[in-house]
Amino acid sequence: MQLTSCFVAASALVGYALGAPAAAANAAVVYDPETGFTFSEYKVAYTLSANIAFRVAVPSSAQPGQPYDIVIQAVVPNAVGWAGVAFGGSMVYNPLFVAWASGQSTQGSVRWATSHSQPTLYNNAKLERLTAGNKVNGTHWQFTAKCSGCTSYSGRSGGTTTLNPKGSNRLALVISNGKPQQPTNPNSNLVMHENPIYWPQSFTEGANANFGELVRRNGGTFAETTETPVTI
Ligand SMILES: *[C@@H]1O[C@H](CO)[C@@H](O)[C@H](O)[C@H]1NC(C)=O
Repeated sequence: MQLTSCFVAASALVGYALGAPAAAANAAVVYDPETGFTFSEYKVAYTLSANIAFRVAVPSSAQPGQPYDIVIQAVVPNAVGWAGVAFGGSMVYNPLFVAWASGQSTQGSVRWATSHSQPTLYNNAKLERLTAGNKVNGTHWQFTAKCSGCTSYSGRSGGTTTLNPKGSNRLALVISNGKPQQPTNPNSNLVMHENPIYWPQSFTEGANANFGELVRRNGGTFAETTETPVTI
């Protein structure tokens, strides 16, 4: 499946589904030796020879219906100006994580859109870029961060939606080949993106028993109280 270059011009971040749901063959479990996390990965074809990989890691102790932190990792071809993943699988009324390359590292933030307009910073979520896993090489940029507040949110109806840490969740990917206007600014204006792609991502397979320890090892913070002690 190749992304079309059909832009949703002024209606940034509002679009429609592209093609059929992707096959489960695009899913894998990936151990990242750099950060130590085990990720559940889903790959979306960007061209016939290049993929975008989106990975999630969650605490094994996370329980359905309760908020929990998540570590997200995106591996994206350099031709992509910015990429975003909507946690509720919708372009509006859900946390939308966006990231891009900035020099030899990355930048990103969590946004929120309510209409056909530029998504604003979403202050109910906090993104912490980890000290490892943020880099650019000759072919890809890679973004790695912990998000608090991405997996549980108040949607359009006001009720709380919590992504199931013990199941699959429908996510949506948007990308743009246009670079952000101010790459060093996490709140940079983002213009135009291609049609979203939707898929169910397994969170079960991204469970990490030592999630909190790994977050701290990679320069992030984690609230002890939410983690069940691990007996080794
Ligand atoms: C660049 O890094 C990505 C992972 O971040 C990797 O998949 C890719 O193979 C690397 N490319 C080169 C040329 O080393």
